Amino acid sequence: MHLGRFLLTLSLFHDVISLSNNIGTVVQRDCTAYSGTRCRSCDLGTFMNQLNGLSNCFPCTTCDTGHGLFVKRNCTAKTDTVCDVLNGYYCKGLIDSNGCSLAEKHSQCEAGQKIKESGTSRSDTVCEDCQPGFFSKDGVKCTAWKT
Ligand SMILES: *[C@@H]1O[C@H](CO)[C@@H](O)[C@H](O)[C@H]1NC(C)=O
Repeated sequence: MHLGRFLLTLSLFHDVISLSNNIGTVVQRDCTAYSGTRCRSCDLGTFMNQLNGLSNCFPCTTCDTGHGLFVKRNCTAKTDTVCDVLNGYYCKGLIDSNGCSLAEKHSQCEAGQKIKESGTSRSDTVCEDCQPGFFSKDGVKCTAWKT
């Protein structure tokens, strides 16, 4: 084989090896043409979810428990944390493979209104004004005036 072609092949082979770290691990020491890539596992609190040639794992997402989120699935070396919303909250942020990123408390309806639709984990409460002749002190349901 021509020397140039041989070196190109060797270099491509090297790149393939570099990118072959398994999910859950990253590169510990760059490989050379003569030594394979050494992989190390991700430390606690970090993860790697793709084949890679990186030397650091990604930090795990934290669920903001003070603001209505909880850990639905813990972070592992191979997967990021999944967050979801607590009762009484709905997801206001992006919902993706990490679950919910931002939660907000369900709105309370005001006096003179009723709850048209209760809030869910994905939507806020929907309020509706009482019809004429009806009242609502608590913002939950409308009651007819007694005559
Ligand atoms: C996540 O890990 C913590 C601490 O190890 C544990 O207490 C909790 O139950 C785990 N949560 C889930 C959803 O597995």
